[in-house]
Amino acid sequence: MKLLAGLLRLDAFLYFINLITAAQPFFGGGTDSYRRKVSLELNPDPSGSSNVSVLHVRAVGGNDTLHFLWSSLGVPTLLLVHTDSPETRVQIDWARLLSGNASGSLTVEPASAVQYSTAFLFSKIWEYSDGRNSADQSQAAVDSYFPPYSLEEFTWEDSNRTLNRSALTAQLCGRNQSQHSGRVCFQISAFESWGRDPAWPRLLHSSNSSQLRFVIEGVPPRSNRSRFALELLSIDSRDHEVREETRRSIDDEYTPSIFQVSRLVSVHANSSAPVLSYAQWKPVAYRTASPVFEDSTPCRHSPCTPLLQPPRLGLALAFFGGALDQGYRASAVNISFGVPGEPYYNATGYLSWSCLLGLGSPPEDSFSPLVLGIMAVGLGTPALLLLVGGACVCGQRLRRQQPGYAPIS
Ligand SMILES: *[C@@H]1O[C@H](CO)[C@@H](O)[C@H](O)[C@H]1NC(C)=O
Ligand SMILES: *[C@@H]1O[C@H](CO)[C@@H](O)[C@H](O)[C@H]1NC(C)=O
Ligand SMILES: *[C@@H]1O[C@H](CO)[C@@H](O)[C@H](O)[C@H]1NC(C)=O
Ligand SMILES: *[C@@H]1O[C@H](CO)[C@@H](O)[C@H](O)[C@H]1NC(C)=O
Ligand SMILES: *[C@@H]1O[C@H](CO)[C@@H](O)[C@H](O)[C@H]1NC(C)=O
Ligand SMILES: *[C@@H]1O[C@H](CO)[C@@H](O)[C@H](O)[C@H]1NC(C)=O
Ligand SMILES: *[C@@H]1O[C@H](CO)[C@@H](O)[C@H](O)[C@H]1NC(C)=O
Ligand SMILES: *[C@@H]1O[C@H](CO)[C@@H](O)[C@H](O)[C@H]1NC(C)=O
Ligand SMILES: *[C@@H]1O[C@H](CO)[C@@H](O)[C@H](O)[C@H]1NC(C)=O
Ligand SMILES: *[C@@H]1O[C@H](CO)[C@@H](O)[C@H](O)[C@H]1NC(C)=O
Ligand SMILES: *[C@@H]1O[C@H](CO)[C@@H](O)[C@H](O)[C@H]1NC(C)=O
Repeated sequence: MKLLAGLLRLDAFLYFINLITAAQPFFGGGTDSYRRKVSLELNPDPSGSSNVSVLHVRAVGGNDTLHFLWSSLGVPTLLLVHTDSPETRVQIDWARLLSGNASGSLTVEPASAVQYSTAFLFSKIWEYSDGRNSADQSQAAVDSYFPPYSLEEFTWEDSNRTLNRSALTAQLCGRNQSQHSGRVCFQISAFESWGRDPAWPRLLHSSNSSQLRFVIEGVPPRSNRSRFALELLSIDSRDHEVREETRRSIDDEYTPSIFQVSRLVSVHANSSAPVLSYAQWKPVAYRTASPVFEDSTPCRHSPCTPLLQPPRLGLALAFFGGALDQGYRASAVNISFGVPGEPYYNATGYLSWSCLLGLGSPPEDSFSPLVLGIMAVGLGTPALLLLVGGACVCGQRLRRQQPGYAPIS
């Protein structure tokens, strides 16, 4: 009897899971069937005298094209351009791009088709000695900062070898000039459709986004208590507002023990109109290249702070040109890897962190089928039992009452 009940329960559970998986798009989030035709093209410096190249991800939809442009020029920068035609092209004036003044050397044509553009710059890596390593946060907090690594001064390797046109991935690695060991890498991935990255933190992505995985590998720490932080800059029009949001999620299935999603979103000023662009990440980094659960370490981020002037650097200067100073504003956020109580960087000498950058609204996690199934079984089974129990009791009462009825004649 018990076995039968158990089997019934399992059956009901599987049934609920199927039902819920089928119904998931109606719960919000869920899947998005929008697909784009995505191509990856590496444009190397034609003179061949530098390793500078511009990686161009072209994502063509029914009516529009998204251009994601990625380069180490200046500082590693991802430029996102939304155009309302499937036929827009990117033009690069290499002579000007590599001259001291890159202003206006990268254009998207026809210019009238450009609907929106924004840039994300990875400018600095901070290293600090976390002297307060104790779970007791109230203890006098002393973080002493070392001079930061400026990614502007790094030498970057040639990305050509790392390009994978079928997987839509590429990698950019560099090191500080004076440094003979250790490097930082950015792995970029583009996507044709909605999905989830196979590697932790298993970020959700759509065809309107690109993912960057940031890796610090073998950089010798300047203290035994060193932790690192990455400075991320966002450049957007002055008519737009960049704000930071942290959403709670109970969906723990894909990223164990992480219950939050953080993001920077750009919206029209004074309006709750749809989101224009975003950088979205889970506040977790990993201490090994193929992590197990114990290798995850939480991240924090600073409040998003406006800068006085957007930096005149790289692809941002090349695309926004002279308008950069008047028409655009920049804001910065520091993402620091590891919190007090967690092992220091010296434990493994490795850190990886992933971030999704895209146009339009960020993909949102909905409850996973597993969580919904558990909820359904947890809440549904007692309700079902009550119902069945109630029906039985009623039935029995009716049966007992029946003989009492006197035939009406
Ligand atoms: C193209 O855009 C028009 C109006 O902007 C819209 O009505 C139409 O559905 C779009 N087509 C596709 C394939 O997205
Ligand atoms: C950079 O180039 C732009 C366009 O060619 C020009 O308008 C601007 O004056 C130049 N800036 C400097 C500092 O040379
Ligand atoms: C270009 O990249 C190669 C490795 O890919 C590296 O050995 C070389 O130093 C780089 N050159 C420059 C000018 O950065
Ligand atoms: C890039 O790599 C491919 C093969 O991996 C090679 O055929 C091509 O010549 C390389 N291009 C440059 C500019 O180095
Ligand atoms: C490109 O990526 C695919 C899928 O990840 C892989 O099977 C293939 O070997 C990769 N190609 C190269 C040249 O690395
Ligand atoms: C990076 O290299 C530059 C140039 O060699 C050097 O001046 C600077 O101190 C180095 N930065 C760090 C953080 O080691
Ligand atoms: C991606 O962009 C297309 C076209 O603007 C839109 O129809 C689709 O809903 C977007 N997908 C997501 C997940 O935002
Ligand atoms: C780090 O710790 C090791 C062993 O615990 C010690 O030998 C080394 O001197 C320390 N390094 C620094 C920079 O404190
Ligand atoms: C890392 O630093 C800590 C704190 O100083 C020290 O106890 C530990 O031995 C170091 N670990 C390694 C692998 O050097
Ligand atoms: C937004 O509101 C502020 C004050 O509430 C105002 O100064 C600013 O001009 C408004 N911006 C736009 C784009 O309407
Ligand atoms: C990032 O951290 C550094 C070092 O503490 C600080 O100087 C800088 O202002 C921070 N930036 C932001 C946006 O908080």
